This record gives sequence, structure tokens and C-alpha cells, in this order.
Amino acid sequence: MLTARQNELLTRVGSDTPMHGLLKRYWQPALLSSDVGERGCDPVRFSFLGEPYIAFRDAAGQVGVFAENCCHRGSSLALARAEGDGIRCIFHGWKFAADGTLLDTPNVADETFKQRFRGTAFPVREAADLVWVYFGSASEPPPFREYEYMNVPSSHRLIMRMKLDCNWLQVMEGGLDSSHVGILHAEFAKSFEARDASLPEGLQAQAQVYSTDYAPRIDVRDTEFGFHYAALRDAGDGRNVHARITAYVFPNTNMIPPNMFVIHYVPYDDTHTAQIVTYWDKERPVDRERTLRVLGLDQPGVWIDDHMEQSPDNRWLQDRAKMRAGSWSGLIGLGQEDTAVNVSQGPILDRTKETLVPSDVACIHVRKLLLHELEHGDPAAPFAIQPPRTSTIQALEVKIPRDADWTRSVPGNAVADAVGVAG
Ligand code: FES
Ligand SMILES: [Fe+2]
Repeated sequence: MLTARQNELLTRVGSDTPMHGLLKRYWQPALLSSDVGERGCDPVRFSFLGEPYIAFRDAAGQVGVFAENCCHRGSSLALARAEGDGIRCIFHGWKFAADGTLLDTPNVADETFKQRFRGTAFPVREAADLVWVYFGSASEPPPFREYEYMNVPSSHRLIMRMKLDCNWLQVMEGGLDSSHVGILHAEFAKSFEARDASLPEGLQAQAQVYSTDYAPRIDVRDTEFGFHYAALRDAGDGRNVHARITAYVFPNTNMIPPNMFVIHYVPYDDTHTAQIVTYWDKERPVDRERTLRVLGLDQPGVWIDDHMEQSPDNRWLQDRAKMRAGSWSGLIGLGQEDTAVNVSQGPILDRTKETLVPSDVACIHVRKLLLHELEHGDPAAPFAIQPPRTSTIQALEVKIPRDADWTRSVPGNAVADAVGVAG
């Protein structure tokens, strides 16, 4: 349980809040590449942390991201002309290249002016069909973290963005909550499809284990990037445990086992969140239709233009008749189930009214890490500076002897004795 002040600190992301400053210190997947369009496209508006921005792609393919309001006198650059090598504000004609260089200022006689000023452009990198932006104010952005999904052919990758009408933190906490997997997703865990050997390994859930042990022991260990936690369940053979090891990458990313889902939680504002699920398969191309079906995202009305249609007004699309006929949740698929429970927690979950239990340890820990950074961190320094390299962060499902140390299953990930706060 948190105090009201702590809950505000963790959830509010507007421009005058500490969380706003924290999240801006990291590269963020603000857009899909497809949002921006082809070379020479018109500018598009978008929001991040309650602030408005625009993006465009110039004739050379470079994406430019700017504060929406022109740095001259504040007209919206969403109105700007697309001119190939940049965009031109229609108010007084200032023209900006994608990197912020001022190319033309027709209402300024001094020719040297445009060498002395720049537009408010932000550093941009495109990777894995996502547009990553550094919105912070440091002169040098932090190193760019590469994930394994960025290094497979695009046919082996599926990027799914779900827009949810609720605060970002409760969505991310859902991804750090292993004890719901066998309960909320009971039908998936027991389904034929989940055990279908032709599905990628990661979707063949350890169905029986999830279905027979609903109260896993959760063990959390801090790492250089955030933390790992293991949900330890009895493997049913008297000797082993099943360890479901999830990675939390500070501040707003989870890696869900087994190593094929990375989820970024991008707050548009306090109560609107993009959940960007990256799913990949190193061995073979991803069957898009089938994956969407398994996740329940192929249902009409569920996922329209990447916005989840579930709301209190339609009782999150729950089918009561289906429940009476044996369905656990009355919802279809993992994506619909997760969205229903997250959005139904309210626009911003009131964490002063919770009753937390031992299986909530990972949620408690992520709050501790974030609060510690918000209250005591160095606002100029990223939590964990990573060199630009292919990520070795792992999330695994393994069967290990009951007395074995599960952290040895993720040897590439240094487990820190004291990063942030312990326990
Ligand atoms: S407001 Fe954009 S050029 Fe004047
Ligand atoms: Fe879930």
C-alpha cells in the first residue's frame, strides 16, 4: 500500500512532475515507423508525457521530431508544409531540417541569424520499425539500448501497439505479476493452442504448472538494468521447481519469458498509455494471423486501429453467457484479458486501497526502485548507463532443482548486490 503522495509521484507524468523528468532521461519508442509515413510525408501530431510533438520524414528518409509549437511564435508545426529537405512553418515561413537546422527565415533580414538558432528538434533513431526519441535536455543522449528483437529480419518480428485508456504504471505492473497468469489466463494455459508444438516455443506456456500452482513464491534480485524476478512453482515431480524469470528494465520496459516478448509502456499522458509489445522468433518468420488469434487480438471490435475498444461502458467486452458455459473470464485471449483488468482498475489505480500479498512482491519492488530514483536519484544521470550493444537481458522459463540458485539460469545478467534499494 502506498500513501496518496507516493501514488501521485509514481503515476503523474505531466510537465511539472518528477516522473516526467525521469522518463525523459531515456530513449523512448514514441511512434511506430508507419505512423510517420513515406519520405517527404506530411507532419503528424503525437503526445508524450502530456506534451505535444510533431514528426515527419524528409526526402532522404530521416525522421525529424519537434515540439509541436514553432520556436518563433508558437504556431503548430502540424500545419507546416512538407518540402522534402525539411518542413516550413506556414506562419512566417521558417524552414527546419530534420535535425533542427534552420534552413530559411524569410522574415529575418540578417543572413547570419539562421546559423545562430536552431529549431526544437529531438535526437531520433529508428530501430525495428519503431521511432525512438530522446526527449531529455542533456547535450548528449544516453547510450541507445539494443534489444535482440531489433536484430532479426522484420519477417521474424511482430510489433503490436495497444492504446489503453489508463495510467501507464498499472499496465506495466500487470506485466510484473506472474501469479495472475494461471488464473486470469486459465483458458489459454489449458488450451490446445497453448500446447501446440507448431507454435513458437514461447507461446507453448508451461500450462500444467501454471494451472496447478496459483501462489508462486516470488524472489526478486536487483540487476545492473533494473531487476529480475523468479516466480517459483512446484514442478510436480517432488524434486524440481519451475522458475518463470521476468526482467524489468528501468524505467518502463519488461521482458516476459521466454525471451520473446519485450514490452515498452509509453505514457501519452496521465491516463492514456501505449503498450508496445514486440514479439519475435529467431528461428522462423512469425505467423502474424495466428499470433494475433492466440492473443485474442483478431476479434472484431477488440482492437481497432491499435486502440483497445474495451471500456466500462461495454463491460470490457465480457461475455457472461460464455462464462456460464464454462469460460473463466468471458473474454477472448491474453490481450483482451490483460486490457480488461488493467483498464478496469480505473484511470489511475488508487494504490492507497490495495491489500498486497507475498505474490505482489515484484510490483512492490518496482515501486520502490522508481520512488527511490524520484526522491533520491541524480536527475542528470540515467539509472543504469548501458554501453550501446546488443542486449543480453534474458527472461526465461526453466526447470531447476528445488535448492538450486535460479539466478544462475541468467548468467549473462549481472545481479547487483545493491542497485537502488534492496528487498
Ligand atoms: S510561428 Fe513559425 S515561423 Fe513564425
Ligand atoms: Fe497477463
